[in-house]
Amino acid sequence: MNMKTFQIAGAIILAGIVGWFAFAPDSNDNNVNAGLPIVQVAVPELDALAQEGEALFNANCARCHGTNAAGNDGAGPPLIHVIYEPSHHGDAAFYMAAKNGVRGHHWPFGNMAPIEGITDKDLAKIVGYVRTLQSANGIR
Ligand code: HEC
Repeated sequence: MNMKTFQIAGAIILAGIVGWFAFAPDSNDNNVNAGLPIVQVAVPELDALAQEGEALFNANCARCHGTNAAGNDGAGPPLIHVIYEPSHHGDAAFYMAAKNGVRGHHWPFGNMAPIEGITDKDLAKIVGYVRTLQSANGIR
C-alpha cells in the first residue's frame, strides 16, 4: 500500500468511526418499548364491583402493571398472564404484594415497593377485577 492509499483508507476508517458515534442508536436506550402493553387483553363487560376494582387498579397499579393489567414494558409485568393464574398466585399473593412489596423474580423489572394506604377492601375489589379479566382471557 503506498502512502496515498494509506491516507485514503485511514480517512475512510475514521469517517466510519465518527459516523458510528454520530448515528448509532443510544446504547442506553435499550428499552424502546417502554410504556407499551406486554400482552393483548380482551376486556369483558365489567359488573359494578369489577368497575370499582378497575378504578382502584388504575389509581394504584396500572402505572406499572399497565392498562387492563396488560403490563407496561419497562415498568411491570402483565397480571393477565398464566404466571398469575389463581392456582399459582392465589388471592393472598395480591394482598401480600401490595402490603409487603415483591422481590422481582419472574421478570426483569426489579422489585415492587409496598403500596401505601391501600386497604383490604380495595384489594378485594382489585383482585375481583383482575380475576374477571383473567377469566375472560382464558386464565383460570
Ligand atoms: C412501581 C411499580 C408497581 C406498582 C405500582 C405495582 N406493582 Fe405489582 N409488581 C411490580 C413488579 C416489578 C413486580 C415483580 C415481578 C417479578 O416477579 O419479577 C410486581 C409483582 C406483583 C405481583 C406478583 C407477586 C408475586 O408473588 O410474584 C402481584 C400480585 C402484584 N404485583 C400486584 C400488584 C397490585 C395489586 C398493585 C396495585 C395495588 C401493584 N402490583 C402495583 C411492580 C409494581
